[in-house]
Amino acid sequence: MKWHYFDDEDLQAVKRVLDSGQLCSFGSGATEVPAFEEEFKAEFGAPLAVAIVNAMAGLHVGVVASGAQYGDEVIVDPMVTFASLGALYHNCKPVFCDVEKDTHLMDANLLPEVVTDRTRAIIVTQIWGLCADMDAINTFAKERDLTVIEDCAHAIYATYNGKYAGTLGDIGVYSFQGSKQMALGDGGMTVMKTEAHRDIINEMNTFGTVPPRLGWNYRMNEVVAAIGRVQLKRAAAYVKMCQDAAALYNEAVAGCEWLVEQADRPGRVNTYHIWAAIFEGDNYGISAEQFTQALADKGLGWGMGYIQRPAYGHDCIAKYLDEEPDCPVAEYLMPRIILVSTGGEPEGHVEAAEKLAEVIASF
Ligand SMILES: Cc1ncc(COP(=O)(O)O)c(C=O)c1O
Repeated sequence: MKWHYFDDEDLQAVKRVLDSGQLCSFGSGATEVPAFEEEFKAEFGAPLAVAIVNAMAGLHVGVVASGAQYGDEVIVDPMVTFASLGALYHNCKPVFCDVEKDTHLMDANLLPEVVTDRTRAIIVTQIWGLCADMDAINTFAKERDLTVIEDCAHAIYATYNGKYAGTLGDIGVYSFQGSKQMALGDGGMTVMKTEAHRDIINEMNTFGTVPPRLGWNYRMNEVVAAIGRVQLKRAAAYVKMCQDAAALYNEAVAGCEWLVEQADRPGRVNTYHIWAAIFEGDNYGISAEQFTQALADKGLGWGMGYIQRPAYGHDCIAKYLDEEPDCPVAEYLMPRIILVSTGGEPEGHVEAAEKLAEVIASF
């Protein structure tokens, strides 16, 4: 199996669209986008699906579909910015729920501390490829009539008790951006359970002249959908490559107390879009500088700290907040996190994992 390959089948799919003369999915003649939606639904057991230009648009329309009005609150996790931005696109206030130290996922136990009577939705990031505690999150949301939006940009084919990420909450959002496991240059898919949500998302995505609401024309075009239909047949194999790469890194850190890989949970399958580990060498007399220098000496240019501060520490989000959120676990994890992309051909990962093991052994 090769990583992200495009061959004659993709070319034929593009040619089919070009020959048809219909590249835009607006109007009745479109066939590729509806077919892609049908095939995606069938693959993941999702009741309904609407293709979209990218996952950010998906998060935005998910918030709109929740019925949130301007000024309402959306609970988000702080390890990435995407969920907060999705809330802000609709002039909603992102309210931050801290994460579990070992999985880096939204900590469902903390939801009662951040919910208010203005909360309308929860956006949960299935981070690095692992699903959060969806039973607890869904139960909490149901009791308060909140919409649960899953950000599955990392988690296509992740499962939770046998069900696919994206089908666990009310609305699931996937990304087909170039670095993702299924990559179409750009693109996204939303899946949902109710026709009401589907109809709002369609209204947000497509209009001709006068939109029925403040729509954004977020629809996917026919060319992307045609390639998507081919790549969907290969996506599970790409995910398997990521899982195999992550297994090498997990093996490299096995027994190391100061480099702790993202934990798993029984009943959940991680796609490992990204292999993540937390550096705790400072508790063992190893500084972050020593460690990153040792990695660099081996040619492993992995930075530490990702975006350095939780999402709310960045001006694009901070300036919309009235108060500083309280997420001590995310504050602890962020400067210590090491993220390794699991994409690409296996040989590179075999070599990198060997080097990582050597670096660990050198301390
Ligand atoms: C967790 C997460 N959510 C959302 C996005 C946004 O995806 P897109 O580029 O398709 O808008 C990304 C992209 O990096 C992501 O990693």
